[in-house]
Amino acid sequence: MTESTATEFNSADFRQAVGNFCTGVTIVTGLDDGAPVGFAAQSFVSLSLDPPLIAVCPAKSSTSWPRIRAAGAFCINILAADQLSICRAMAQTSVDKFAGIDWRSGLTGAPIISGGLAYVDCHLYEEHEAGDHTIAVGEVKDFSLVNGDASPLLYLRSGFGVYGETL
Ligand SMILES: Cc1cc2nc3c(=O)[nH]c(=O)nc-3n(C[C@H](O)[C@H](O)[C@H](O)COP(=O)(O)O)c2cc1C
Repeated sequence: MTESTATEFNSADFRQAVGNFCTGVTIVTGLDDGAPVGFAAQSFVSLSLDPPLIAVCPAKSSTSWPRIRAAGAFCINILAADQLSICRAMAQTSVDKFAGIDWRSGLTGAPIISGGLAYVDCHLYEEHEAGDHTIAVGEVKDFSLVNGDASPLLYLRSGFGVYGETL
């Protein structure tokens, strides 16, 4: 194991270190002129209760985020463990990612993907510059716990897993 210092930043080592923080997986969706767009994101966080805010961090290289931003609304779809294929599809770019995926429009118009654990439907509240990503803050307009009994899809150390044990 190597040590990184501020003067000698190694991005691969950094990713390996912070990849030990286990997250769930979401699909950030939006509706662009009637067309569903979306991308896989682990950077979702619940931010504030009053007002109800959440955040997600789109990369500046994302081709979907500018289209979602333009719509002014997005939906965070929290994936179940049996939705790994949806995650993989949504982690691609420049393809018809929604082919074969069942969805409906939520309150804001953003797509709610069927079979997820929960969704959070938002208006874009504000966006902050953050290096090669932005921090997109969403004001919650609607949410639902759709299937609280199903297992979440987990992401850890560049791999996927299933939650299995309560301590
Ligand atoms: C588990 C997982 C988590 C990801 N998290 C993020 C994220 O938080 N932010 C982001 O911009 N991309 C994230 N990505 C990468 C995007 O999903 C990927 O770059 C996608 O192709 C972007 O699609 P787009 O060009 O249509 O926006 C993640 C991918 C995976 C597989």
